[in-house]
Amino acid sequence: MTTCLLTLLSGSRENTKRQSSRVINPLSIMLKKAFVRLMTIVTVFAAMISFATPAHAGDAVAGKTVFSANCAACHAGGRNAVNPAKTLQKADLDKYGMYSEAAIVTQVTGGKGAMPAFGSKLTAEQIANVASYVLSKADDGWAK
Ligand code: HEC
Repeated sequence: MTTCLLTLLSGSRENTKRQSSRVINPLSIMLKKAFVRLMTIVTVFAAMISFATPAHAGDAVAGKTVFSANCAACHAGGRNAVNPAKTLQKADLDKYGMYSEAAIVTQVTGGKGAMPAFGSKLTAEQIANVASYVLSKADDGWAK
């Protein structure tokens, strides 16, 4: 009788063990799958971000349109109609510490002296594009 009970007990203990391991296994597989999926998403996002923000973010071709509409009134041909000393020629940009995309982006965004701020009128992308355009034109001397 006692042996019989013991056998029954150990048998049911075996059952619970087997059951619990059957529960844990699919769960750990699900967790592994979720982890793999998460890593894939992280990798894809990292790739998207690194493609979206290369070192020189500006697109000079798109920047030409922004320049014509917003800057040419004062800076036609790379000149400066308001402050003739501060043209967009490479020599002047160099002289005033403006020969970099970052410096131009800062000034266009916030304005300076008689130059208006464009931070609320243009998007960050448009400003990066126009800065790139100004630099590329300065490099070729604003030749037509
Ligand atoms: C209302 C006239 C006006 C408009 C419009 C204007 N600027 Fe200017 N810009 C100026 C003046 C004035 C300065 C000189 C600012 C200072 O340093 O006092 C200047 C300076 C600059 C400089 C630095 C030049 C140097 O030699 O130091 C850059 C670069 C520049 N502007 C780019 C732009 C861009 C790009 C736009 C269009 C998004 C623009 N500006 C629109 C008047 C203007």
